[in-house]
Amino acid sequence: MSSLDAVVHGARELVVGPAAGGDTLETHADGAVAVVDGAVAAVGDTADVLAAYPAENATTAIDATGKTVLPGFVDPHTHALFAGDRSDEFAAKLRGKPYQEILAEGGGILRTVDAVRAASDAALVANLTAQLDVMLAHGTTTAEVKTGYGLDTETECRMLDAIAAAAAEHPVDVVTTFLGAHAVPDDTDADAYVDAVIADQLPAAANGPARFCDVFCEADVFTVEQSRRILDAGREHGLAPKLHAEEFTRLGGAQLAADLGATSADHLLHATPEDAAALADAGVTPVLLPATAFVLDEAYADPQQFLAAADNRTGAPVALGTDLNPNCYTHSMGFVVSLACNGMRMAPADAVLAATAWAASALDRGQDGTGTLREGTDGDVLVVDAPSHVHLPYNPGVNNVEAVLADGTVAVGGGGA
Ligand code: NIG
Ligand code: FE
Repeated sequence: MSSLDAVVHGARELVVGPAAGGDTLETHADGAVAVVDGAVAAVGDTADVLAAYPAENATTAIDATGKTVLPGFVDPHTHALFAGDRSDEFAAKLRGKPYQEILAEGGGILRTVDAVRAASDAALVANLTAQLDVMLAHGTTTAEVKTGYGLDTETECRMLDAIAAAAAEHPVDVVTTFLGAHAVPDDTDADAYVDAVIADQLPAAANGPARFCDVFCEADVFTVEQSRRILDAGREHGLAPKLHAEEFTRLGGAQLAADLGATSADHLLHATPEDAAALADAGVTPVLLPATAFVLDEAYADPQQFLAAADNRTGAPVALGTDLNPNCYTHSMGFVVSLACNGMRMAPADAVLAATAWAASALDRGQDGTGTLREGTDGDVLVVDAPSHVHLPYNPGVNNVEAVLADGTVAVGGGGA
């Protein structure tokens, strides 16, 4: 027997996803969505959906009159599993100390590595669960989580286990990325560390939940050649490549991502139009992380160059993510959408697509319709207390997500039939 999990009806605006054959946003006025057995069964006019799926038969019925209903946010880039507190570095950065200087002095990532190595397994699971709770409350229903604060085989594997354990109990759909090459530990050099990642960490990590392998390709961290070696080895273990590219310097990471046919290239603050064209040609989704530029007081990436490069090509032109980590401590995709519009001058419709359907492409989840509300997609639905998607960026700093359904089940709010 199938079960009618939820009907959300009367929405002033219901956001479906990218319009067929184009990059514009498909929306319905007076829209409704019905979820059966965890998946969207119908989307359309309220009268039609309610005729086929009466609200009184549903486990959850939500009257969204005057509100906006949209697909759950997809956050394609997070370092959400960590331990410790680096708020003192925030204060140091405000006094003018650069992020890379903090890193070179053993702060930054390496300090979080110490805290993660010292944390118990249970504490790691509890930490990630707490972060996922906040992400969910802000409307994220699918999130990538990276390792990379272990930097040795034992701790990287403990991080993978903690991600799997937290994900198994949480409504957020978690996609796991192995990031053993996030920094060079201070007791070794980069080449020796790359050898260890390939010889020891990757074979062990490949037995866990990771689907992707990522590298921090950056001056004084990992070179393009070292990144290539790791991503090639990752692929041999079944992990698809992703890359932190062109964040502080233009090192060639975007071109490497294009060469490898990576799933995504992320950050891209220093990417050029040629880099954007190479990524678009290779079908690599560019992931922009404006909250990182915001906290570092760096110039934002230029979304227009990626949107222009993607013209007349299939695939996602550009995605947005939080980069949640101890340096960039935000869980909110709504805030990121707001930065994308107010800071990077993206159109609200593009920013919403970049935070949903296009972000799903950065996790290779585009084909299953993640980040859209269409028949057959996961029943991940947001009810936002605002009259249109434009109000997300128009109303910065406010979490107007009122209810979240994950696979049709109420995960946040949801009161009032
Ligand atoms: O994506 N750039 C490298 N890694 C993270 C920062 C992680 C940290 O500072 O702990 C990032 O910004
Ligand atoms: Fe990152």
